[in-house]
Amino acid sequence: MNKIYVWSIFTRLSHIFLIAAVSVAYLIADFENLLSYHAALGYVVGLLFLFRILWGYMDVKFSKFEDFNFNLKDLAEYMLNIFGNKKEYVGHSPVSSWAIVAMIALGLASVVSGVIVYGTQEGIGLLSFLNISLFKEMDFFEDLHEFFVNAFMFVVFVHIAGVIIDIVLHKSQALDSIVDGYKSANSDGLKLTILQKVFGIAWVGSSLVFLLYLLASPSNILLADASNPTDKKVEHSLFERESISCYTFYPPHLLPMEPLVNIMDNLEKYFEYDASHDKKEKNSIKDYPVENSAES
Ligand code: HEM
Repeated sequence: MNKIYVWSIFTRLSHIFLIAAVSVAYLIADFENLLSYHAALGYVVGLLFLFRILWGYMDVKFSKFEDFNFNLKDLAEYMLNIFGNKKEYVGHSPVSSWAIVAMIALGLASVVSGVIVYGTQEGIGLLSFLNISLFKEMDFFEDLHEFFVNAFMFVVFVHIAGVIIDIVLHKSQALDSIVDGYKSANSDGLKLTILQKVFGIAWVGSSLVFLLYLLASPSNILLADASNPTDKKVEHSLFERESISCYTFYPPHLLPMEPLVNIMDNLEKYFEYDASHDKKEKNSIKDYPVENSAES
């Protein structure tokens, strides 16, 4: 038997990239303040899988979908002998073939449903225009995202368990091969063409650049709040506080100018309230709603 090259450096790097991105995205999913990182990693997972789909049609030995084994008889035979004398495959085994396709499909479904939830519920990202009450109140998209993520993670765990079983029971070379690229076999190894190498560089390189870009510029269209609602608390905390302490928060951008001026000029009259601020603060509280009224 010869040592032959099976998994290209691009397959192996993208695999490491996938493990890191999926793991971190999953672990931080419940932290509201880390949502933009979760989304950024999700986009990168989507890009890695899109490239992997194209890679499957690039005539790369062992990696092309044509070389996958989707034969159900072979799958059944493989599973029945998993603890016994099972057949060794140089490329992907039947169970690996199905698991990889399932991970790609469920991974992409998780990303797409995540983008929908991000837009409808958080009002952020490409679909932020769907952040309207009709969708905001709906749990459907969140449930769908959770479903796809759970199904994806289930297949990932089965995939990892399969690799571990293979190592423990069969001293399989699968894990070594996804690290160093080589397996012992009686066949010719993989040789990449220039075009495949260029594609591989684009696959790993652009995914890395994309991640760095998303992390470095959180106001990009994929992560930013496209409707750009004004955070009144940040914009004028004093106005916010005084407005609420009087009666309720008056969103200036929703009100015409005249009643606003009237209210701000006659705080005591309206609310029997003495806004005891120095002159500068008083002017600032007054100017802010007038400058930001619906008529401004
Ligand atoms: C988030 C976690 C993971 C994901 C999404 C994932 C996904 C994938 C994908 C898509 C492939 C196919 C590679 C290709 O043909 O381009 C693959 C192969 C492989 N993965 Fe993973 N993987 C994950 C974690 C792991 C871990 C933790 C291990 C090691 C314990 C592992 C071991 C392998 C091996 C050995 C192969 C080659 C399988 C074969 O020989 O058929 N994976 N993985």
